[in-house]
Amino acid sequence: MASESLHESAEALRPETIDRHRAVSSLMEELEAVDWYDQRIDAATDAELRDILSHNRDEEKEHAAMVLEWLRRRDPKLDEHLRTYLFTSKPVLEIEEEAEGAEGAEKGNGNGDGCLNIGSLRGEQQSPIRHLWRMGTGIES
Ligand SMILES: [Fe+2]
Repeated sequence: MASESLHESAEALRPETIDRHRAVSSLMEELEAVDWYDQRIDAATDAELRDILSHNRDEEKEHAAMVLEWLRRRDPKLDEHLRTYLFTSKPVLEIEEEAEGAEGAEKGNGNGDGCLNIGSLRGEQQSPIRHLWRMGTGIES
């Protein structure tokens, strides 16, 4: 039941938020199933069983893609990020630098990365990986 994994009372949430929670939960479950199948395929000793498990795992990937598309169609910011990062071949952090550099220039926030240095809901910096990457490359924004 969806309410068991909600972080707020269901009565306080809009129906579309609860539907989105259902979709996010399903996406997590599909990707977790892919991971489980990967491990079972590695461990299976029978070739036919490995083929069946591989087929089933790949169907989970299709399910994940379908629910991700449902989420994308309803979330303009997610749509924007997916359009920026997916189906590209450049290094991902390079894409981020370019995208946020352009975004920072548009916003004129001075640091050029579009980051307001506000902690996330988990109390972390927004992108510690970006910070570490910059330290390693010496690139300043
Ligand atoms: Fe599935």
